[in-house]
Amino acid sequence: MNKTCSLSFLLLLLFHHLTAAKAAIGVSIGTGGVGVGVGIGVGNGGGGSDNGANSPGPSGSSSVPKHDNSYTALQAWKSAITDDPLKILDTWVGPDVCSYKGIFCSNSPQDATTSSTVAGIDLNHANLQGTIVKELSLLSDMNLLHLNSNRFTGTLPDTFKDLVSLEELDLSNNQLSGPFPTVTLYMPNLIYLDLRFNSFSGTLPEQLFNNNLDAIFLNNNQFGGEIPQSLGNSPASVINLANNKLSGNMPISFGIIGSNSKLREILFLNNKITGCIPQGLGIFTEMQVLDLSFNSLMGHLPDTISCLQDIEVLNLAHNKLSGELSDVICSLRSLVNLTVAYNFFSGFSQQCSRLFNVGFDFSDNCIPGRNMQRPQPECSVIPGGSLSCLRIPTPKPIACISLAASLNSMHTDHSSSSP
Ligand SMILES: *[C@@H]1O[C@H](CO)[C@@H](O)[C@H](O)[C@H]1NC(C)=O
Repeated sequence: MNKTCSLSFLLLLLFHHLTAAKAAIGVSIGTGGVGVGVGIGVGNGGGGSDNGANSPGPSGSSSVPKHDNSYTALQAWKSAITDDPLKILDTWVGPDVCSYKGIFCSNSPQDATTSSTVAGIDLNHANLQGTIVKELSLLSDMNLLHLNSNRFTGTLPDTFKDLVSLEELDLSNNQLSGPFPTVTLYMPNLIYLDLRFNSFSGTLPEQLFNNNLDAIFLNNNQFGGEIPQSLGNSPASVINLANNKLSGNMPISFGIIGSNSKLREILFLNNKITGCIPQGLGIFTEMQVLDLSFNSLMGHLPDTISCLQDIEVLNLAHNKLSGELSDVICSLRSLVNLTVAYNFFSGFSQQCSRLFNVGFDFSDNCIPGRNMQRPQPECSVIPGGSLSCLRIPTPKPIACISLAASLNSMHTDHSSSSP
């Protein structure tokens, strides 16, 4: 990396000696190899960007000056837009891409006086119809790409791995389809990935939860298959997997393998997840919202839920969970909304009545003497009777601090055993 940086720097110096023209440089030292490629291009280009009305040169060629790269990219995209009801692209004419509606420029970090580069595209709610073209990957200084609420179809081009500066990618509420766009996993600086409300399908890649993403929104797609075992590795604070077709058990390692416990919100609602709720869940001591509703989870709740000291909303509705809701759960100090409707719970402890004034929905369970419960015949066979997660509840809160360590050793001891 050091080598690459100094090479970029040398090229930059060289360039300054070669041309006095006020050309757009836009070489970012941080961008490594890509920066070098562009740097060479600028040197050869000889300041052509002052004359942007001229032909922008061969598309995708590395001998095109940086500023013209932006022009090339955005004009290629413009011609792939088939409907623009708000007439936004009417402003996309001429060489000054920074004046285009939705395009935001910033000065290049190397040369604040002479050049500016495309730092962001914000076309949220533009209602554009078309595709996302490969030429956009020429915008290698771009930090933000916000395209939510448009009508883009197809998927992301593989060339998008060249978007080495991209930190936020919001493609939500479009008509994108195909498998998970793995190119997003190769964007080294991406921290916000929003693909929700599209038609992506297929399985989620293992690498997704190993990357350094802080927010992962995949809800309302057609993703299927099992949730990758790497889930617990994710350093994200928000993960939304709701309204997909994910199936199989929750990863047993969830909460165990990860040393990162920054997760504040995770939503699994409305998938096809089966089996037990893993013990490791209690490790997420910063969790505020946990939604497991509308799945097929069975068995008793793990007592480790009592370690979720910051949990505010816990939604377990519409599963096949059973057992009693114990004091250790209902006395969680931040809990304001506990929803367990449509399960097979057979009772709740004294502490749970504390929640009556805030939010506690226990309808359609098997709780004797309470209103709005399942008809008795439905309660005669509790689902998941053969599962090992019909755990014996502990009367006292478990020692949450040592939880991580004990779960870790448990996991190592039994890692090869299967139910
Ligand atoms: C509690 O949460 C459920 C589901 O998450 C929601 O439907 C309900 O409106 C909430 N109740 C209160 C009182 O906030």
